[in-house]
Amino acid sequence: MAQMIGGIFTSHVPAIGAAIAKGLQQDPYWKPFFDGFIPVHKWLAAQRPDVAIMFYNDHGLNFFLDKLPTFAVGAAAKYQNADEGWGLPLFRPCQGDTDLSWHIIETLVAHEFDITTCQDLLIDHALSIPLELAWPDHTGDFPVRIVPIAINTVQHPLPSPKRALALGRAVHAAVQSWASDAKVVVFGTGGLSHQLDGERAGHMNPDYDRFCMDNLAADPDALTLHSSLDIVDLAGSQGIEILNWIAARGAMGDGVHEISRNYHIPISNTAAATMLLQTDAVRLLAQA
Ligand code: DHB
Ligand code: FE
Repeated sequence: MAQMIGGIFTSHVPAIGAAIAKGLQQDPYWKPFFDGFIPVHKWLAAQRPDVAIMFYNDHGLNFFLDKLPTFAVGAAAKYQNADEGWGLPLFRPCQGDTDLSWHIIETLVAHEFDITTCQDLLIDHALSIPLELAWPDHTGDFPVRIVPIAINTVQHPLPSPKRALALGRAVHAAVQSWASDAKVVVFGTGGLSHQLDGERAGHMNPDYDRFCMDNLAADPDALTLHSSLDIVDLAGSQGIEILNWIAARGAMGDGVHEISRNYHIPISNTAAATMLLQTDAVRLLAQA
């Protein structure tokens, strides 16, 4: 049986990608953010997941306002990074896990989620930057195969936090029923509070961010008490990327605890956060 071992949650600000490309990890502006990945690197070296299911939002690279699926699942054998307009250098491609992709797709449809299936999908900064943050050794390929799951956080009407959590929980059921001995980690990317444009550009809300971080491990349902529009109000129009975190947390199942967190405000226009959560499966695997 496949094992869900943990979750990595991180902001995906494009400027982080530029800092990686320029090697600025020890620069005083960047160090407090990059240092949040030290426990993540230790954990990944010890746990060695085989597959990463990545909840993120596409920023106009595959889906623009003319066609925007609410939930889309990648089912490609390989994912190439492309630049949707930030001028970032191209990041490494990543292998897909088509077996898990199709198992997730079938499970989600069986759970009555009407998803879009993508056998051809480019990955943008919201996927590439978290991968580069988690596995910064640029000399080789990423040591995981990925399954990308894109959530619409861009165009209204947005899915509700309740629906995002239910989507994640259905993905958890898929992992639990996947005939594989793979170790699976999930990623939730984006957030925390930020607004890039309009009258409230630069809006951040540390109180709401703390509420999210404090409840993510033990009580993710608490994050569904606000509607998506409430969250836009609280966290900014891009702060709704917390939907990716909520879905990823749902995919971890029950029995989850926090290993580390880092909150650094601001990076660009964003209250930047990194969290590492672990499931009880890790302890059970160690005892087996
Ligand atoms: C920024 C944050 C994002 O989540 C994003 O997708 C683009 C830009 C920013 O703060 O600059
Ligand atoms: Fe974003």
